[in-house]
Amino acid sequence: MDGNGRWAQKRFLPRVAGHKQGVEAVRNLIRVAGESGVTCLTVFAFSSENWKRPEEEVTFLMELFFKALREEVEKLHTNGVRFRAVGDISALSADTQTLVRGAESLTQHNDRLTLNVAVNYGGRWDIEQAVQRAAAAGEPTQFANYLSFADQPDPDLFIRTGGERRISNFLLWQLAYTELYFTETLWPDFGETDLKVALDWFADRERRFGKTGEQVRDEAQKAVA
Ligand code: FPP
Repeated sequence: MDGNGRWAQKRFLPRVAGHKQGVEAVRNLIRVAGESGVTCLTVFAFSSENWKRPEEEVTFLMELFFKALREEVEKLHTNGVRFRAVGDISALSADTQTLVRGAESLTQHNDRLTLNVAVNYGGRWDIEQAVQRAAAAGEPTQFANYLSFADQPDPDLFIRTGGERRISNFLLWQLAYTELYFTETLWPDFGETDLKVALDWFADRERRFGKTGEQVRDEAQKAVA
């Protein structure tokens, strides 16, 4: 969800105003994604590296996450959304950890849309913690089973807003065959039409997973025959 700071600066507002508006974009995206048939949505709210930002911005982002979750959890629940936080939650405040655990537990049986919010998450952190836990369990070669998303499908589509063409330590393991979509649109401006454009782009991709295009088209034909 890149581009919040620039969105604010363009309006001569403090950077944090962009984050605030970014929450509105997340709220809208959850609704539109659900209506569009998306069953799993992961948003990158705070990376392991974002602690390096100015202290006021870090504090603001943490409070924003806390407030947004507190205000939205009931609505997420009534809309059939399963909430999950992904990342090293132990570094967050005790209140936030309690809120996160409560929201996960309240929504655990919902199945319309799974919303993963990556907080204090990094793809490298995830691989390291999985390797450590797998080794401790005596299953070092099974480390992929210990990744944060082991029980969820690999993402089909990755969207990065704000014009940069980087993964920035997001789902490093899980993005192996994901379609990567980059847009200049700044995150607070990313709305319904932008998501539809991205989904239409995705629908035109031929996913080969290492096979040839011919094999994939043959298999698709056999499946409908
Ligand atoms: C990157 O834009 C954005 C972030 C580091 C924070 C994203 C967080 C939110 C939108 C709030 C999330 C809250 C919930 C409840 C999920 P940037 O600040 O790097 O933008 P810039 O590149 O224009 O400076």
